[in-house]
Amino acid sequence: RSCSAVAFVYRGTFVHSTPQTPLQILEDALLGVDTRGKIAFIDKGGELQDLSQTFGFSPSKVIQLEDHEFFMPGMVDTHIHASQYSYAGTALDMPLLQWLNTYTFPVESRFKDLQFAHNVYTQVVKRTLRNGTTTACYFATIHTDSSLLLGRIAHDFGQRALVGKVCMDRNSSVKHYKETSQESENETYRFIKELLNQKYPLVKPVVTPRFAPSCSEALLTQLGAIAKNNNLHIQSHISENTEEVKLVKELFPDSESYTDVYHKSNLLTEKTVMAHGCHLSDKELVLFRETGTSLSHCPNSNFSLCSGVLNVRNVLNHKVKCGLGTDVAGGYSSSMLDAVRKALDASKVLTIQNPEHNTLTFEEVFRLATLGGSQALSLDDHTGNFEVGKDFDALRVNVAAPGGPIDLIQSDRPKNLLEKFLNLGDDRNIMEVFVAGRKGDPNSTQGS
Ligand code: GUN
Ligand code: ZN
Repeated sequence: RSCSAVAFVYRGTFVHSTPQTPLQILEDALLGVDTRGKIAFIDKGGELQDLSQTFGFSPSKVIQLEDHEFFMPGMVDTHIHASQYSYAGTALDMPLLQWLNTYTFPVESRFKDLQFAHNVYTQVVKRTLRNGTTTACYFATIHTDSSLLLGRIAHDFGQRALVGKVCMDRNSSVKHYKETSQESENETYRFIKELLNQKYPLVKPVVTPRFAPSCSEALLTQLGAIAKNNNLHIQSHISENTEEVKLVKELFPDSESYTDVYHKSNLLTEKTVMAHGCHLSDKELVLFRETGTSLSHCPNSNFSLCSGVLNVRNVLNHKVKCGLGTDVAGGYSSSMLDAVRKALDASKVLTIQNPEHNTLTFEEVFRLATLGGSQALSLDDHTGNFEVGKDFDALRVNVAAPGGPIDLIQSDRPKNLLEKFLNLGDDRNIMEVFVAGRKGDPNSTQGS
């Protein structure tokens, strides 16, 4: 139990996931947050008098939620390219490898310009916070200084973030958008050291080989060693599209599979998250499970680039950790609510193709967007649900927000309210965003 003083207490409905149950609804509950931003207590049907004595706060501190309001955990975007936010919503007319060469690498090369980077990174951090993303796992670009700037901006706006300086030493369509292996290694060291030196409490570096086709085997191995020696997170892409899988077979003829390429370089760890995985074999999923590697399911991107349809049910059956990602800008939406909807659609597509397929429920997808994401990023000691001792990362949702997109009927219960919010809601329904107990600045993160 926390021994810090209670800073504030909310009373009302709280919805969240646990490892045992995808949706737990606590009605008329009391939740206290201490001065460090951690959850001090959550008590359904608890006696206010007893709690206020045990935790030493005045009952006048209690803030009552309105009708049609509830708190849910902040959402975790396990895969987003901050730099690609600059062209989100455009340029989705070709498959992955052509798309990278035609649009992505030319755009990312512009982030050498710190002013341009500052503008785009400020936009993406503000927009994702406003949309309810309290934790984001970002790809920046190859440029160390603008990647550090992304870390600073996430810190300034109070978003929990993993930030990666992208590494790539081959196969770029843009002459200057590529490093030598040595530069990539040196700059990764500098990035990690300088980001850690800032001591931002909520922002951590993540070792980021772009994907196997962009990295020589020597670079992959160097990056595996850097991550291991410094106990760091790792992120990359895997088995997104069949052309890419074929290319990796050609580039790494000695590897048994795409997964094996990363495994050989010690890149599959308890702190690794790989995006997509649409075309992984069951054998590869077993290797994910054995190494503790997680998957980021990015359904908008998989539809938009016609990459494939990940079978999340099969991933979960293999006990592989899984979260959701927007994959801006292969995915056109920066909202995790869109990722929730597209994940449900993807699961229904699989059921259309095979009626035996066990469709994901909205409760399960809610868990993927919150607790699942925190597990996928190995941040579930700190965030993902309302367990006592975790940081208070939360969204105050008003399903009936005036001028908002949702209509209610008298008989709607909290479970319907959550389902309507997930399917129909947007930032107009998100009244407050908390990260580690700190409320986002309403002028910078709220409203449109
Ligand atoms: N594979 C390698 N780089 C990328 C990228 O930027 N976006 C997506 N969707 N896939 C990738
Ligand atoms: Zn991606």
